[in-house]
Amino acid sequence: MTADLKRYQLFGWDYDHFRPLNENEFDWYKNFARQAGGPILELACGTGRLLSILAELGYDVTGIDLSSQMLKIAKTNIGKLPAELKNKITLVNGDITDFDFDRQFGLIYIADNSFRELCTKEAQVSCLKAVYHHLAPKGLFLLTVMRFDFSSFVNCKKEIPWSNAIADPVSGTKVSRKVEFKLSENKKLLNGLYTYKIFDAQGIEHLEECPFVSPILHEADYQALFAETGFKADLFYDYKDQKDIVGKIMCFVCSK
Ligand SMILES: C[S@@+](CC[C@H](N)C(=O)[O-])C[C@H]1O[C@@H](n2cnc3c(N)ncnc32)[C@H](O)[C@@H]1O
Repeated sequence: MTADLKRYQLFGWDYDHFRPLNENEFDWYKNFARQAGGPILELACGTGRLLSILAELGYDVTGIDLSSQMLKIAKTNIGKLPAELKNKITLVNGDITDFDFDRQFGLIYIADNSFRELCTKEAQVSCLKAVYHHLAPKGLFLLTVMRFDFSSFVNCKKEIPWSNAIADPVSGTKVSRKVEFKLSENKKLLNGLYTYKIFDAQGIEHLEECPFVSPILHEADYQALFAETGFKADLFYDYKDQKDIVGKIMCFVCSK
């Protein structure tokens, strides 16, 4: 296992709050789902927010994630849906670098930076090979990830200051967080640290640190990984049919 899951296991419930999806993202996935057809597989599905949107289109969707807690949240969210949608969604606790289903999918995707959970080239290639194996001959694989921008770093560091405190929906405990990022010397890895300030029922605070490491990959690195694993990839930006104006989010559309 290559992932550092502590942040997701302890505080994954805040994910949808800090990284809400917007209409452009919803439309992007829905359009490609209609184009590619089902069944659909999401890698690193987290709280399952995209799974329910795509199930609404009538497809069978499967989400795989390594964090039991993220899957627990996904299960709770999906449990609130009407039975006809709920029955279309399958959650699997597994590793996206090593999975084996006995069927192929029309659409496979990995959304919102989740590919950057895979730190080593070995893990990245292993994931893409598994995707290739599970993708139907005319299927599509989507990978969306933020374009790395060194200009936002000062002396190789960047910090997102303490957030307002928000309440854990299950325990009601108030939690705020800050995030620190540091580039490795060769600028190939991002060393990150989430620090959470947790206020207990008596208002006493304690800190929990969740370090993580994430690879720094650029367009050429992704294209090289796709070529090595047998994919042709087209690059769009910002969930739009936009190739020429370089945007913040790289949206790769891959086929065999
Ligand atoms: C950024 S969050 C997921 C967000 C989800 N894609 C979305 O857009 O809502 C990243 C997820 O990757 C999962 N993850 C990290 N490494 C993984 C691995 N090797 N296999 C499966 N899931 C993994 C984490 O548990 C976490 O839920």
